[in-house]
Amino acid sequence: MKVWKKVVTGSVALTMAGTLAACGNDDNADNNAPANDAADNNANENNVNDNDENDEEAAEDQEEVTITYARGYDATGATDVLIEEFMAENPHITVEFREMPADTGQSHDQYVTEFSAGDDTIDVFDADVIWPAEFAQAQYILELDRFIERDDIDMDEFFPGTVQSGQYEGRQWAMPKFTDAGLLYYRSDIVDTPPETWDELIDMAGEYMGEEGTEYGYLMQANQYEGLVVNAVEFIASYGGAVLDENENVVVNSPETVAAIEKMVEIVESDITPSNINNFMETETHNAFLNGDAVFARNWPYMQAMTENEDESNIAGNSAFALLPAGDDGSASGLGGWMTMINRNSNHPEEAWELMKFMSSYEGQKISAIEGGNAPTMRSLYDDEEVQDSAPLFADPEFVETLENAVPRPVSPIYPQISDLMQIELSRALAGDISPEEAAENMEQAITDALAE
Ligand code: GLC
Repeated sequence: MKVWKKVVTGSVALTMAGTLAACGNDDNADNNAPANDAADNNANENNVNDNDENDEEAAEDQEEVTITYARGYDATGATDVLIEEFMAENPHITVEFREMPADTGQSHDQYVTEFSAGDDTIDVFDADVIWPAEFAQAQYILELDRFIERDDIDMDEFFPGTVQSGQYEGRQWAMPKFTDAGLLYYRSDIVDTPPETWDELIDMAGEYMGEEGTEYGYLMQANQYEGLVVNAVEFIASYGGAVLDENENVVVNSPETVAAIEKMVEIVESDITPSNINNFMETETHNAFLNGDAVFARNWPYMQAMTENEDESNIAGNSAFALLPAGDDGSASGLGGWMTMINRNSNHPEEAWELMKFMSSYEGQKISAIEGGNAPTMRSLYDDEEVQDSAPLFADPEFVETLENAVPRPVSPIYPQISDLMQIELSRALAGDISPEEAAENMEQAITDALAE
C-alpha cells in the first residue's frame, strides 16, 4: 500500500530556499487569519493597518508553499484529480498527499495521536461527519467562521444537515465535501424488482444466489468497526428505534432495537452472506460485488461509479440501486459523509483553507461526483447536466430525498466511545455470544455510563 505520495505537476517546481527566505513572518501572519487563541496572542507585532495587510497578502500570493493533505485510501481516483486541478489553479501551492487507512476508525486514531501531540505535519484533512464535535472540543482544529465570512461563502448552498455536522457550539469547524447515504445495490440482470422489506431481501437473496455466477445473496459491513454501527443504525431505525433521542437520552434498549439486531443476526448467520461476513468492510464489499459475486449489497454511493467502470468491474451495465429494505417502520438510510478540517497547529492555514474551499466548491464537488461517484453536498449540483450524466443516482429525485432524510449517528463529542461500545456489543451478538436482548441492554448501560462520566 502506498503510504506517501507526492503529487507535483511540472509547473510547480519548488525552490525551498526561495520559499523560506521569502517567508519572513508568514507564519504569524497566517495565524492571524483564523479565530484561534494563538492568533490573539501574536496579534501585537502584526497589528498592521489594512493597506499593509493587503500588501502582505499580495506578497504572500507569490510565495511557494507546500501543504500536506491527508485522507483515507480513495478507491475511486477522484483525489488525484482534485489535487492536480487545485495545484494547476494555485501554482504557488504544492499539495503533498498523505494516505490514511481506509477504515475510518483507524484514520481517526492516527489523527488523534498526532494532533494531541501538537504535530504540525498535516495541514488539512478529510474528516468523517462524526468527528467535528470531538476534534473541536479537543482543540485539534481551526474554527472557520472568519474564513467563511471573509470569502463570502454562502453556507445556505449546502444541504443543512451537512453544514450542521461541521458545527460545534454555534461555530463552523468543518466544510462539507460529500455526503453519504446507505443504498441497496442489486444485479439488474438477475433481479427485476428489488425487495421492499428485509424479509423479502432474505427470500430473494436465497432464491437468486447462484445465478449468473454469483456465490452470495447479500453483502453488508459486519466487521467490528465504524461501518457496523452504521449498518446497525439503519436496521434499528428501520424498526422504529434509535440510540439517543433528541434530548440525548439513551433509548437504545427497546423492543425495536431487539427486533433490528435479531434481523441482523438472522442475515449474518444465514447462508446468503459469506461465511466471513464478519470481516467485511466497504472495500471487501465493493471488491466482491464488482467481481460479480453477489446478488445484493449494501454500500455507499461511491460504489455506483465503480460498478460502471469496465476496467474494474465485471458487472458494468448489470447493476442498479434502490432504497434499503424496510423493517416494521420503513426504510432507513444511514447518514455518512466527509468534510475537511484544518489542523490547529498548521503553519499554513491560509493555503489549507484554499484547498478545503476548493474541494467544497461547486467545481471541486463536481470533480468528486464525476470522478469518484461521491454525492455532492451542494443542492445545485444535482441540476448540473454533467453530474446527472455521470451517474443515474444523481439524476434520481428519490435518491436526493434519501440523502436529505438519512439517519445520523448519535451526535456527541464522545461519539468515538459510544461507537466503540456499540461495536463490541453488536459484534458479540452477531457472533452468537450474547442474545440481541443482552446486546441492547449492554449498549444502554455502557452508553449511559459513558455519557455520565
Ligand atoms: C463512509 C461514510 C462515513 C462512515 C464510514 C463507515 O465512509 O461516509 O461517514 O463513518 O463509511 O465505514
